[in-house]
Amino acid sequence: MLDSKKEMRVYFNGEIIPESKAKISIFDHGVLYGDGVFEGIRSYNGAVFKLEEHTERLFASARYISLDIKMTHEDVNRATLDTLAANDLYENAYIRTVVTRGEGDLGINPAKCTGNPTIFIIADDIALYPRFFYENGLRVVTLAVPQKPISGLSPMVKSLNYLNNILGTIQINNYNAWTQGRSFSELSEEEKLLIVTEGIMLSADGHVTEATADNVFIVKDGVLFTPPVSEGVLEGITRNSILDLASELGIRSVEARLSVFDLYSANECFLTGSAAELVAVRDIDGRRIGNGIESFDVYGRLRAAFPEYVSRHSTPVPK
Ligand SMILES: Cc1ncc(COP(=O)(O)O)c(C=O)c1O
Repeated sequence: MLDSKKEMRVYFNGEIIPESKAKISIFDHGVLYGDGVFEGIRSYNGAVFKLEEHTERLFASARYISLDIKMTHEDVNRATLDTLAANDLYENAYIRTVVTRGEGDLGINPAKCTGNPTIFIIADDIALYPRFFYENGLRVVTLAVPQKPISGLSPMVKSLNYLNNILGTIQINNYNAWTQGRSFSELSEEEKLLIVTEGIMLSADGHVTEATADNVFIVKDGVLFTPPVSEGVLEGITRNSILDLASELGIRSVEARLSVFDLYSANECFLTGSAAELVAVRDIDGRRIGNGIESFDVYGRLRAAFPEYVSRHSTPVPK
């Protein structure tokens, strides 16, 4: 909820309604089978970053699972902006757009979902990691659960099937079991530095793919590297923006297959995502990255230039 006194308004199947009125059927295939797609988007200073790219990816994901959204791109863009306006979100916000196949019966057959898809848009705030980690970098581990193979449900599809990523997050939570349920603010500075914050999923043959909800970059000898989408990664909008921004700044970038060795021996490492934005990685599996995040020159330049890049690629929320 945005604020405990004011109920949030959400877009729900063509209308803007109070959050408490938005109800989904227990026969919705999104609920029964994870049969749907979604987007996570940010707005900054009252303008939505790369709205059209997110809408395009939503439609591409839907096309992959043969889900007819029954709206045009323009309708989805307008609904996104309307949701922000309905909540007076003219500063920064995080937007979640979800489309499911709608109501079916108890079988998996999508042909039984004969009505309209369920579409909702929530505009709220999200803090993926506490601010402490933006200042001190993340402690990251490689995950035991491999990335989905590209021969199955493509990792390029932003579908409602995130269980692999959730299993990875459970592994991360298990590393932090020693905190015994104490909240982050109750931990000492030394304890905060011990928290494992993220995990990197490897492909079944051991190559670097992505983090649980972010793309991975490393820097080696001044060159920026990230795995190609063909390795089985979501084509992150922030990832593509960073590649674009690097080219504007004259930083050489290469999309290349990366090994765990490449991670451990990198001079810099950072993650990108709409929710995470840009965040430096301090260590991976207990190996300190480079000479510490203070020495991350390429990351520092990209991070400093990012807000201005965002302002050039954003769609204002109409008043
Ligand atoms: C698995 C995964 N990888 C990468 C990303 C980053 O993508 P984007 O920059 O488009 O948010 C996300 C978040 O959306 C994600 O869920």
